[in-house]
Amino acid sequence: MNEDFQSRVTAAMANPQNMGELPNADSIGTVGSAECGDMLRVWVKFKEEGGRKVIDRASFQSFGCETAIAAASLAMELIRGKTPAEALAMRGEELAKDLGPLPPTKVHCTALVEGAIRQALEPAAQPAAAPALSSAPPTPGAPAPSSLMDSFNKPDPKKGGVKVVFLRESEPPA
Ligand code: FES
Repeated sequence: MNEDFQSRVTAAMANPQNMGELPNADSIGTVGSAECGDMLRVWVKFKEEGGRKVIDRASFQSFGCETAIAAASLAMELIRGKTPAEALAMRGEELAKDLGPLPPTKVHCTALVEGAIRQALEPAAQPAAAPALSSAPPTPGAPAPSSLMDSFNKPDPKKGGVKVVFLRESEPPA
């Protein structure tokens, strides 16, 4: 692994941005890597701006490696102010471009970030999207999951858990 890449990851890890649950999020995306077992959740809040729906804030939690956390930290800032369609057009390496060229063994880490964003945004990107934009609508009366850890404790979507999509390196997100 080259030193430039490692020092950029270390710098991003030293002060990660937008980490943690986003209260009252409009949408949530959770993905896992079938390759390494790491997981990432993204929360997104929208706002109206100039007649367009744009991303007001995005945050993340991860059971993942340093690269995934550093890439997610950078990506949450990059997608702010973008429409769902604009954010969905960004690929993992673009979302983490400030880390520089990725070692081949770390490409899937940024795919994890892209996948979680995609999971959160795809319902919102549809023209006929319903006002409720969660990728896993909560069951009425069930408490909303508040963290990635909560989802492990409440894996049943009917009890507040959230569906986790596992990505395979050979099958990048659509
Ligand atoms: Fe799996 Fe980084 S090693 S996400």
